[in-house]
Amino acid sequence: MNTLNTTVSNEAGLQNAAVTPAKEERPAETVIEEGQTVGTPFSDDPKFRLRNVEVFYGADRAIKNISLDIARNEVIAFIGPSGCGKSTFLRCLNRMNDSIDICRVKGALHLDDQDIYDPKRDVVELRARVGMVFQKPNPFPKSIYDNVAYGPRIHGLANRKSDLDDIVENSLRKAGLWNEVKDRLDATATGMSGGQQQRLCIARAIAVSPEVVLMDEPCSALDPIATAKVEELIAELSASYTIVIVTHSMQQAARVSHRTAYFHLGHLVEVNDTDKVFTSPEHELTESYITGRFG
Ligand SMILES: Nc1ncnc2c1ncn2[C@@H]1O[C@H](COP(=O)(O)OP(=O)(O)O)[C@@H](O)[C@H]1O
Ligand SMILES: [Mg+2]
Repeated sequence: MNTLNTTVSNEAGLQNAAVTPAKEERPAETVIEEGQTVGTPFSDDPKFRLRNVEVFYGADRAIKNISLDIARNEVIAFIGPSGCGKSTFLRCLNRMNDSIDICRVKGALHLDDQDIYDPKRDVVELRARVGMVFQKPNPFPKSIYDNVAYGPRIHGLANRKSDLDDIVENSLRKAGLWNEVKDRLDATATGMSGGQQQRLCIARAIAVSPEVVLMDEPCSALDPIATAKVEELIAELSASYTIVIVTHSMQQAARVSHRTAYFHLGHLVEVNDTDKVFTSPEHELTESYITGRFG
C-alpha cells in the first residue's frame, strides 16, 4: 500500500510539474520588438526628431530602427550595456559618424525640422550648433585662452579682441572654471588637472553658443570630486542647452537627467522619465539592467 501510494503521488506530482513548471525553471524569454520602444520616446516640442534610424558598420547593423524625440532644453541620459550602440547613436546627432568610412546612417534625422543629413548641409555649422564633449578630456596643446577662443575665431564670432575676451571669460564662468584659471589664461591647457581639462572642454564647446551639447561618458576619466563638479555644471547648463549624455553610471543618470533612454543590442528598449526608469521600469530588460543582472 505504502509503495503504491508513493508511486501514485509521485506520478501526480510529475504530471503537475509538467503542466505548471515552477516559474524560475522556465527559460528566460525576453522579446525585443524591433522599433517598439516602450514608455515615452516622443515629445510635443522636439529639438531632435529622429525616425527609423539605422546605423551600419559595413554589413553590421549597430542601430536597429530607433525612433526618438529629444525635447528642447531637456537632459536625456543614454544608458545600457557596453557595445549596445549609445555612442553610435549619439554621434548621429552631429554627424560625427561621417568620419568613419564604413559607417552608414539611414532614417530621418531632423534638428528643428531641418534634415541633419541633407547633402547640402554645412557640417561645420551643424557641429557649432551641436557641440560635443568626449570621454577623455582632449584640450588642444595650446593655452587655456586659445582653447576657448578657438571656435569663436573659426566661426568669426568676435570682431575685436575685447569681444573675444568677453566670450572666453563668459564661457569659462559658465563652465565654473573662471576663478581657477583667470590668472593663468596663457598657461598650457594640458598642464591642468583632468577635471579642469574636462570643464575646459565644456567651456570650449559652449564658446560658440551651441544649442545642444552631446556628452559621451564625460566623467568616466574623472575622480569623484571632479565628477561632482561636472554634474553640477550639467545641471546649470540645462537651463540654456539641450543636453544628451551617455553614461555608464546609473547614479549619474539619476542625478542629472530628466529622461532616460535604455539601449540594448542596438535597440532602444525603453524611454521614460528618469525617476520612473529607476523606480518602476516598464521593460524587463531595463529592470534587469538597473538591478545589476547584466551590464
Ligand atoms: N568605428 C567602428 N567600426 C566598426 N564597428 C564599430 C565602430 N564603433 C562601434 N562599432 C560597433 O558598433 C556597436 C555599438 O558600439 P558603440 O556605439 O560604441 O556602443 P556603446 O557606446 O554603447 O558602448 C558595437 O558592436 C561596436 O563594436
Ligand atoms: Mg560608448
